[in-house]
Amino acid sequence: PEPSAIFGDRRNSEGLDLTDPLAFGVMETARDAFATHRWQAASLGAMNTDTEILAEVINPADRTDKVGEVRQATPAQVQQAIAAAAKSTWSEMPVAERAAKLRRTADLYQANAAEFFAVLAREAGKSWADAVAELREAVDFLRYYADEAHKLTAPARGPFVCISPWNFPLAIFTGQVAAALVAGNPVLAKPAPQTPLIAWRAVQLMHEAGLPEDAVQLLPGGPEVGAQLTSNPAIAGVAFTGSLPTARRIEQSMAQHLSPHAPLIAETGGLNAMVVDTTALTEQAVRDIITSAFQSAGQRCSALRILYVQEEAYERTLEMLKGAMNELALGNPWHLKTDVGPIIDATARDKITAYIGARTDRVLHRLQAPEGGTFVAPTVLRVNGIEDLPEEIFGPVLHVATFKGEELGKVISAINASGYGLTFGMHTRISSRVKRLANMVHVGNIYVNRNQIGAVVGSQPFGGEGLSGTGPKAGGPHYLPRFTQGDTSLQCG
Ligand code: NAD
Ligand code: ALA
Repeated sequence: PEPSAIFGDRRNSEGLDLTDPLAFGVMETARDAFATHRWQAASLGAMNTDTEILAEVINPADRTDKVGEVRQATPAQVQQAIAAAAKSTWSEMPVAERAAKLRRTADLYQANAAEFFAVLAREAGKSWADAVAELREAVDFLRYYADEAHKLTAPARGPFVCISPWNFPLAIFTGQVAAALVAGNPVLAKPAPQTPLIAWRAVQLMHEAGLPEDAVQLLPGGPEVGAQLTSNPAIAGVAFTGSLPTARRIEQSMAQHLSPHAPLIAETGGLNAMVVDTTALTEQAVRDIITSAFQSAGQRCSALRILYVQEEAYERTLEMLKGAMNELALGNPWHLKTDVGPIIDATARDKITAYIGARTDRVLHRLQAPEGGTFVAPTVLRVNGIEDLPEEIFGPVLHVATFKGEELGKVISAINASGYGLTFGMHTRISSRVKRLANMVHVGNIYVNRNQIGAVVGSQPFGGEGLSGTGPKAGGPHYLPRFTQGDTSLQCG
């Protein structure tokens, strides 16, 4: 084929250039209209909307800022939604029309960018840079899956449950829903309980774009809503992104109650490592370590958790790392200057704080957390190796270990032995080493001489292996077929 046919001609969303004062000023003013807005969210779809379970959403960066309220789905509403999805005729709509509705949704997302930026900051604690990247990714998922859909050859599976985390409350939520929908499946979407407001706006826009109410339904709530959905025999498949323990619970529930043919697409966490050797450019490595470990306050599945530095480079890398950390601006992400925002809620904050508190003798460097919200100060801990990390700590905690040149193979074996396999980074100028380590390490995404977070829909699909995910990678060509009967892979475990 022609090279252009291999890569396609789809361009990703351009987002907003934060260094352009004019464009930024316009967007900031538009966003500021939502500075004190209170969103009132509820279930959306083909169900009765009388419900009593009310939960308040508070800004994690400013506990005095009430962002909105959500009426959570009741068990009766969940039942009604499943029944409506089972009767939906969505799969009969020609694929080109389904794809057109996704594209229309993408346009509406962009038209509502200012409101999305406001909710992303106030509900999810996203910095400007993170919020812009998140909206771009959501738009890219909609357009990419719309463009890929014509290649599908097999029928839809049936009602699909999509369960998403709070850390990408728009992008991951949208990616799962868009993929399931365009393949012809009616969707029951359960957002994370911490971030229901943005999901509610997203589904409102999907309905405005012409997606029928019984094709995409929103069921806000916590684990109990997720558990009810994933134990109903009418469900034909589950797309889940979140923690490993939750994935295990869902898998057990599906095994007990659902058809053995119902797939679980699960994307989970990681104990992500980076190796820095003596040939690395220290300035470049430190810049990328800071981004990988502390952007989004470390609340990314891809985030760097353990840095392995070759012994001879340790002192200079650590000194520069401390200096660069001292330059980070911590605070409310509403302000452009903020680099590191809050932890999503008090429960998560307390868990991370307790983890650090139990290891004060290992602290190499620590910043000061701001007041007023659920903040954790970026922290560096000394460890011997990945074996010292008991689990994924989902926050701005970076572990640092050293290795001798001849021990690199052992380091990679230890990383593989953790069982996780999401991201891996390396900083080195030895190209044969890049190839060797890339062949050895068992992870989904490898990043060389750059930061190790983020992915690009369509050109850099994202997903893990082992305990980090079942695959197929989101934003890649193998993802959509999994939502159809044409994909015959066994249910993954
Ligand atoms: P979580 O597992 O606590 O919750 C995820 C979702 O599952 C939420 O909507 C939650 O309400 C729901 N849930 C909880 N219990 C359930 C049950 N028994 N049945 C059905 N649903 C249930 O995760 P989180 O704290 O929201 O997100 C952070 C985690 O997500 C981290 O581990 C992170 O690494 C992971 N993550 C992975 C990726 C990836 O692509 N691999 C991306 C983002 C986040
Ligand atoms: N969603 C993952 C991240 O941005 C790829 O880090």
